[in-house]
Amino acid sequence: MKTGKVDVLLGLQWGDEGKGKVVDVLTPRYDVVARFQGGPNAGHTLEFEGQKYVLRSIPSGIFQGGKVNIIGNGVVLAPDLFMDEAKDLEKSGHELHSRLRISKKAHLIMPTHRILDRAIEAAKGKNKVGTTGKGIGPTYTDKVSRNGLRVGDILDGFEAKYEAHKQRHMQMLKALGWTDFDGFEETEKRWMEGVEYLKKFPIVDSEIEINKILRSGKNILCEGAQGTMLDVDFGSYPFVTSSNTICAGACTGLGIGPNKIGNVYGIMKAYCTRVGAGPFPTELFDETGKTIRDLGHEYGAVTGRERRCGWIDLVQLRYSIMVDGVTELIMMKSDVLDGFDTIKACVAYKLPNGTVTRDFPYEIDNVEPVYKEIKGWKTDMTKFTSPDQFPQEFKDYIKFLEDELETRIGIISIGPDREQTIEL
Ligand code: GDP
Ligand code: IMO
Ligand code: MG
Repeated sequence: MKTGKVDVLLGLQWGDEGKGKVVDVLTPRYDVVARFQGGPNAGHTLEFEGQKYVLRSIPSGIFQGGKVNIIGNGVVLAPDLFMDEAKDLEKSGHELHSRLRISKKAHLIMPTHRILDRAIEAAKGKNKVGTTGKGIGPTYTDKVSRNGLRVGDILDGFEAKYEAHKQRHMQMLKALGWTDFDGFEETEKRWMEGVEYLKKFPIVDSEIEINKILRSGKNILCEGAQGTMLDVDFGSYPFVTSSNTICAGACTGLGIGPNKIGNVYGIMKAYCTRVGAGPFPTELFDETGKTIRDLGHEYGAVTGRERRCGWIDLVQLRYSIMVDGVTELIMMKSDVLDGFDTIKACVAYKLPNGTVTRDFPYEIDNVEPVYKEIKGWKTDMTKFTSPDQFPQEFKDYIKFLEDELETRIGIISIGPDREQTIEL
């Protein structure tokens, strides 16, 4: 039987690795780009022709002419935010209606899910996760507890279903002692407008479409959101998001058999960042961390929050590569380290009992990173166009990473623009 291939692209760290940029760069090689999990907690930045776009729910394949983009069943969608995002894109001249399809089985983020997100965070006090406040956790909780409202539900008898879910949420908020409903009516009104707007797009059985597309020999690129360390099963639990961000999430979030998965592109920064609370072994609290934040413009694309910065963590990356089945690595933001005399890479952890391990432990709260120091390349590489131009120190660094991670690096990103991408 003829079949196309499915490749998966995902973040290997704590999100914001630069997935959006790479999806945009790789899209010309595919017929379809599909999002399989997450929702408007994602912020995927793309830059080309002097313009910058931040996508939240819409796949990053939308700018490369005529490709089909699918929002899969594993995604959670907020109609009002989707409407804002889509209208902004249309204003800037990017037609969406003929290219974007939405799964009937994707779950809807209701206005009350967002309030619940805030209320649950508040109730956690100092243990709060530092969520994006987009209602992600409560929406996935409703999905798993068989209480969710799906995109397909807007097509028939929606008002009554919505009201029942809202009342249930209100009871929960009451139990949490939540009283802040400022602006709720206005938000709800816009949300309902968003629901009407959503109806203008093809709402489809995306799992059936996707498998038909594959049978016709076409190729699909699956775009992950967040990162492996935010995966609900394998991430730094409980400081994670509420979906499976790993490669397997593409199977459940799109309805693709695991035997259809081909390449798995693992995206990593040349260093590491994290937003929100939770352990981060290589985090830097000194001037170096601040320098990385400034040079890398490490502020959240969605919330504007400062991203925590630190050195690359190879123990963590080896673990991510393992659970994702990564076949090829893509390294982003190497330009941020262009001016450093020395850079560091964590090669092992020292556990609280003094043992040194290269294996990723159950808890990473109290591990101490063991670093290898690497001589910096001290060269502005942002205008390079070929790997031949890389200084020897940088070539050595790539070789070192490939040996440590036992995986090939296929692409190096040397700046935010689409053009600043070098294939090895
Ligand atoms: P995503 O969520 O994984 O798509 O990543 P984000 O868009 O949240 O964050 C990545 C940020 O780094 C964005 O501002 C990108 O424009 C930027 N970026 C991507 N690749 C590079 C690169 O190679 N160098 C630099 N300096 N910036 C980059
Ligand atoms: P992209 O796709 C970075 C983090 C939040 C918080 C935790 C849970 O742009 O890489 P949630 O709102 O999902 O319940 O928050 O996950 N987080 C992200 N961090 N990039 C993201 O997405 C993120 N999406 C969620 O900061 O710590
Ligand atoms: Mg992001």
